[in-house]
Amino acid sequence: MRTQVCIIGGGPAGLFLAHVLHAAGIESIVIERQTKNHVLSRIRAGVLEAGTVDLLRQYGLAGRMDRDGMPKDGTRIFWEGKADFWIDVIRWTGKRMMVWGQTQITEDLYAARERDGGEMVFEVENVALHDLDGAPSVTFDRHGESQRIDCDFIAGCDGFHGPSRMAIPADIRREYERAYPFGWLGIMVEKPPMKEIAYAYHSEGFAMASRRNPMLSRYYVQVPSTDKVEDWSDDRFWEALHRRLPEHAHGEIETGPSIEKSIAPLRSFVAEPMRWGKLFLAGDAAHIVPPTGAKGLNLAFSDVFYLSRALIAHFRENSDRYLDSYSQMALRRVWAAENISWRMTKLLHVFPGEDPFDQKIRQNDFDLLAGSEDIQRAFAFEYIGLPFED
Ligand code: APR
Ligand code: PHB
Repeated sequence: MRTQVCIIGGGPAGLFLAHVLHAAGIESIVIERQTKNHVLSRIRAGVLEAGTVDLLRQYGLAGRMDRDGMPKDGTRIFWEGKADFWIDVIRWTGKRMMVWGQTQITEDLYAARERDGGEMVFEVENVALHDLDGAPSVTFDRHGESQRIDCDFIAGCDGFHGPSRMAIPADIRREYERAYPFGWLGIMVEKPPMKEIAYAYHSEGFAMASRRNPMLSRYYVQVPSTDKVEDWSDDRFWEALHRRLPEHAHGEIETGPSIEKSIAPLRSFVAEPMRWGKLFLAGDAAHIVPPTGAKGLNLAFSDVFYLSRALIAHFRENSDRYLDSYSQMALRRVWAAENISWRMTKLLHVFPGEDPFDQKIRQNDFDLLAGSEDIQRAFAFEYIGLPFED
């Protein structure tokens, strides 16, 4: 097979790239290790930055989001022993976020690929990347048969565990990482959610209330990395959540049997550079953020914005200006998201072994935020997501 851009990975990054390239008349083939149903069964965060909302609208992917999504003007923070706090994102930035699930976005992206006749190959195995500084190709096996795609460029959109990042030579690749000694135990419940998404700090640990739709709630509590899902009955979960959220909010929590329960580890990770020869990384293939800032999907979309612009300039205007600056430009935004995600994680979680000094600094960080409009404005600027660079 031959195509202009071979896209490894059919998650949101790979599919959105294929969609934007198609709109510009550039051919691609998406290869995906799993089946489509498997990709669509993953449960992930669902808060969109204003820039992501704009991109979905610009590329004709916003119909369902604009009908069923929940516009979000700010975020509620509950803090043990202190008054509730509201980060007034719209007031400080003039921009509005949106609560809309990644699963629904991915469904719409698949529908668009199918409608546009975009080529996708599922259930590929043994994917390997070749000749990244010459005439690149990708080989893989499918149902026992070897196949090969020759291409001009490879987009590595294959998530944290995919082979693309590893194709960058070890002496070139630099990796930066922070692992956290705790995870988020999340449950999904078919009950009306709390009025607003809320983050909570409590001396027992972080807790959070989120939503998927008017009849589907998503809640999380911080748990030690060593805990197993089996350690957490629904009753134990609800008791922990109630203890960590203030009493005056208990009336807003509608409990019920969980329809899903899982533990997600928290990790910060960045690989540099995001380009090697004809290979370009985008999304989780290059970076992971802890979910506290809800930046993961937004970063995947901003990478794809920069990468698609660069590929379009290459094929349509014969200019490699954006291809050459892709890694640096994308990484500036990646590090900004890593930064706020790490700070929010530090602010809102209890770290095993922390001492009273750490706790005093955390309390003071919250007091500074709650007490200063300047700090709120700065926070909102980062939380809404940095503007795209020209
Ligand atoms: N060959 C082909 N596809 C692969 C391979 C492989 N060897 N390895 C992994 N993949 C596929 C995975 O099955 C997955 O569908 O690549 C896809 C990567 O998708 P995601 O992990 O969803 O990553 P990305 O598209 O970058 O989206 C980022 O996902 O983890 C969240 O918070 C993150 O919301 C963000 C989003
Ligand atoms: C979620 O809805 O799953 C969610 C929302 C915001 C976050 C993390 C997760 O910061």
